[in-house]
Amino acid sequence: MAHPTAPPLGKDLLGLEGLTREQITSILDTAETFKEISERPVKKVPVLRTKTIVNAFFENSTRTRVSFEFAEKRLSADTVNISTAGSSVAKGETLVDTARNLEAMRIDMVVIRHHASGSAQFLAERIASSVINAGDGKHEHPTQGLLDLMTIRQYRGALQGLRVCICGDVLHSRVARSNIHGLRTMGAEVGVCGPRTLLPPHVEELGVTVFRRIEEAIEWADVLNVLRLQLERMKGGFIPSLREYNRVFGVTRARVEAAPRDLLILHPGPMNRGVEIDSNVADGPQSVILEQVTNGVAVRMAVLYLLAGGEPGQAEAAKGGSA
Ligand code: CP
Repeated sequence: MAHPTAPPLGKDLLGLEGLTREQITSILDTAETFKEISERPVKKVPVLRTKTIVNAFFENSTRTRVSFEFAEKRLSADTVNISTAGSSVAKGETLVDTARNLEAMRIDMVVIRHHASGSAQFLAERIASSVINAGDGKHEHPTQGLLDLMTIRQYRGALQGLRVCICGDVLHSRVARSNIHGLRTMGAEVGVCGPRTLLPPHVEELGVTVFRRIEEAIEWADVLNVLRLQLERMKGGFIPSLREYNRVFGVTRARVEAAPRDLLILHPGPMNRGVEIDSNVADGPQSVILEQVTNGVAVRMAVLYLLAGGEPGQAEAAKGGSA
């Protein structure tokens, strides 16, 4: 299944924009190979035994932070976690000074989440270690995009020609940007649907179809990726009220049941239940939200392995034994 002809990823993974179809396929195939490690009684192989990785999360996270840590531990890397609270960032130390001090302790990779768009690239240009973007502001969240692609491919067989609609707060969403780049590169058709205030200006220039009504989006789509309303990034005035948003744009059971085909429902989490998605959809038979989370560990294992110089075609052999 692995894809030995894909060009190497290089030093860093900063976004899905610019990755080729072969590179994305290679990551997804490698993730498929690594996925079964998490099903073993002993969930540990010696693939990254010599590597030291810092998880630097300067913004809140549950799924991404824990998923990277599991991926690293299951591949036997040594890991350290830092966040703003409890580190010298809280005393005003700069991002680059923090990273250079960590490098002085001989690390191999930094996984960074940061509120500033472009922070992962800024860091990658200034340190020798590999940098993995775990979400930078409104820019990109490449491993989330990859796990979404992996999950859609798992349930629908191929991405080519599929219609995927990204619904909700596209304006503030790094997940939307990574999905748009990744899905279009893989040959999917991409739509976006949300109130005008929550769609970026000129979003059509990203090659997506814009839907103003959720009913039209659902009629068109094979897959819905429902985004969280990022209330913490809204200073007010984007929507009249949460109840109104749910009434007009919410992914409800009645709307999903009116779809002309069997929809697949994704959500990157964390969810605002009863706002962008109703509980009976989030927990219903078309939802693959928890499978996304499971696939997240496998995708992050694949990215860590490939950035550490692992060959896509050698992943099966590399994971062979237990640690
Ligand atoms: N999907 C996602 O990024 O979730 P967290 O913010 O919990 O990491």
